[in-house]
Amino acid sequence: MNSNTHRWKFVVAANRLPVRRLWQGQQAKWVPSPGGLVSALQPVMADNPDATWVGWSGVPGDAEMPFEVEGLQCHPLSISQGELQLFYEGFSNTTLWPLFHDAIYPPEYHRTWWDAYRSVNERYAKTVVELAAPGATVWIHDYHLLLMPGMLRKLRGDLRIGFFLHIPFPARELYIRMPWRSEIISGLLGADLVGLQTSLSADNCCRAISRITGIKTSGKTIHHSERTTRVGVFPIGIDADRVQNLIAEPTVQARAVEIRESLGSPSTVMLGVDRLDYTKGIEVRMRAFRELLAEGRLSPENCVLIQIAEPSRSQVTGYAAVRREVERLVGDVNGNFGVMGRPVVHYLHQSHPISELVAMYFMADVMLVTPLRDGMNLVAKEYVASRANNTGVLVLSEFAGAAQELRTAELINPHDIEGLKLAIESAVHRSKTDCTPAMKSMRRVVLTDTAQRWAERFLSQLETC
Ligand code: F6P
Repeated sequence: MNSNTHRWKFVVAANRLPVRRLWQGQQAKWVPSPGGLVSALQPVMADNPDATWVGWSGVPGDAEMPFEVEGLQCHPLSISQGELQLFYEGFSNTTLWPLFHDAIYPPEYHRTWWDAYRSVNERYAKTVVELAAPGATVWIHDYHLLLMPGMLRKLRGDLRIGFFLHIPFPARELYIRMPWRSEIISGLLGADLVGLQTSLSADNCCRAISRITGIKTSGKTIHHSERTTRVGVFPIGIDADRVQNLIAEPTVQARAVEIRESLGSPSTVMLGVDRLDYTKGIEVRMRAFRELLAEGRLSPENCVLIQIAEPSRSQVTGYAAVRREVERLVGDVNGNFGVMGRPVVHYLHQSHPISELVAMYFMADVMLVTPLRDGMNLVAKEYVASRANNTGVLVLSEFAGAAQELRTAELINPHDIEGLKLAIESAVHRSKTDCTPAMKSMRRVVLTDTAQRWAERFLSQLETC
């Protein structure tokens, strides 16, 4: 297929392509990326001669030619080193990311970042204009591309455009701090359908739209300039089959046993799995754990915490500071409560393959998911999907989107350290049979509302717009 002339009926645009480079010695090859979005779209896109994905390869510089990986058509888009700093690290991750996560870290506003953000969004829009067939469906993803729906609409009125925001939409009072608030809302209103993870985010989005444009929204429908934009709630799920298939593998089960033994077979293993990000509340849970040990409410002989902190956005302001603080706390807990050869916290600042994570989920008695704000949090759902025997306790922040669906988790407010300590203590002491009804009910949700179902729901609603 000549990708220079081919026109696609379904185009996905996202900051990253659905593939990553895997190095084997000196040789690199592309493989599909792990994660909810890729699993969700794989059934729609793989081996579909009418579908392509536009995005950045993750390496700054000129874009490569379009290529295919396991049936996924990829159309790389170039991001220069300068744009990486201004567009990705700057506006996307130091302006939008903190602002949209309740400004828990102070957002910065710089005109040079905004200019780069606009120009990268324009490049995406112009690329899709060239690639999309007449009347094609275009699905745009996430906070890196908020302007793109509006830009695309101006250039191609024939397209059906969907936009999904994977992170929270903040309260109107916070949103209106944004110097370019009107431009961003105009960008969103280029879409026929705007999807959000929770009803709170959808309400916030509608309120911001009416405040900025003066248009009265009727429910979640916005009539503007002879067109209509619908706002809807579409909580993303996980690839539950993939997790369940891994759990069924003898090697994964054996690895779970091996990990527990390597920890000294403690009676309770607690687990945290996060990108190392200031939104994730890793320090909060570390402080709660330290206090519980200091107060003698948990015993360092019986209770071990594994904290996986996947390296992330290390050049972005705020990330180095959170790493220093987490590592200081880990050192503090281990220095005070560990014994020779037996740390109480096993901290790994490394990425892990999904099979290793699933072995950990399968083995962990208590899962700690304590973000200060999170769009969804798929780790919480992966833990639940891994609990094939219906045991285990999920301690889950009310400020994660997942808390809207996983109502029988041990819900906590991460700002309330005493409440968090009580929840952890009670989770550690809960018997296996006591956990079962709550876990069964969460499993029903996670195994039914999967990533694939999410994509089907969004796309079928978009088709009716
Ligand atoms: O949660 C938002 C998100 O963009 C995810 O879609 C993605 O997996 C994660 O953050 C990592 O982000 P980055 O692309 O900056 O590494």
